[in-house]
Amino acid sequence: MPPLDPVRFLAAMAELPAGVTVTTCRDGLGAPVGATLSAVTSLSLDPPMVLACFDRGSNTLKAAIEPGSPFLLHILAHGQEAIAMAFAGKGGEKFTGIPWSPGPLGLPEISGCAATLVCRVADLVPGGDHMIVTAHVVECHVADDPLPLVYHRRRLHPVPAAA
Ligand SMILES: Cc1cc2nc3c(=O)[nH]c(=O)nc-3n(C[C@H](O)[C@H](O)[C@H](O)COP(=O)(O)O)c2cc1C
Repeated sequence: MPPLDPVRFLAAMAELPAGVTVTTCRDGLGAPVGATLSAVTSLSLDPPMVLACFDRGSNTLKAAIEPGSPFLLHILAHGQEAIAMAFAGKGGEKFTGIPWSPGPLGLPEISGCAATLVCRVADLVPGGDHMIVTAHVVECHVADDPLPLVYHRRRLHPVPAAA
């Protein structure tokens, strides 16, 4: 078969609804860093683990993700669209204007999320132009009622209330 047109591949994958997360951690100098990721999923229950797929060019990946390093995984809620877009950018100003404070292990914790998981990196596995990061979940907090954000057809949507 001829090589797959990447545009067709992207169009197909845009049909797959995904949750929206922000990973935050600290770089080698202690500065807060973070990135928006939708390629995140539950991996294991015993032990509790998740996986997150980072583009190899991610500054967050390069600065702060290695075996044993901690990070927070925030599952964004409806109303946090601006946070999703802020952490999808590049550079050091992502945290400006974002409601955050030092949380577990001193990691940057964003408030108002649907859920927040405290994670520790287990492994980095190559996956094409991404790195698959597996991580142990050591603690998590679930908010009372916010609806999560969903990324579908390249746009952010709230989960319908009936869901
Ligand atoms: C809704 C949405 C989902 C995204 N999902 C991912 C993802 O799963 N993996 C990834 O590497 N980048 C993803 N991105 C792009 C990153 O957020 C973007 O490349 C960001 O600039 C990375 O920041 P960094 O280089 O500071 O780590 C996503 C962006 C958006 C808007």
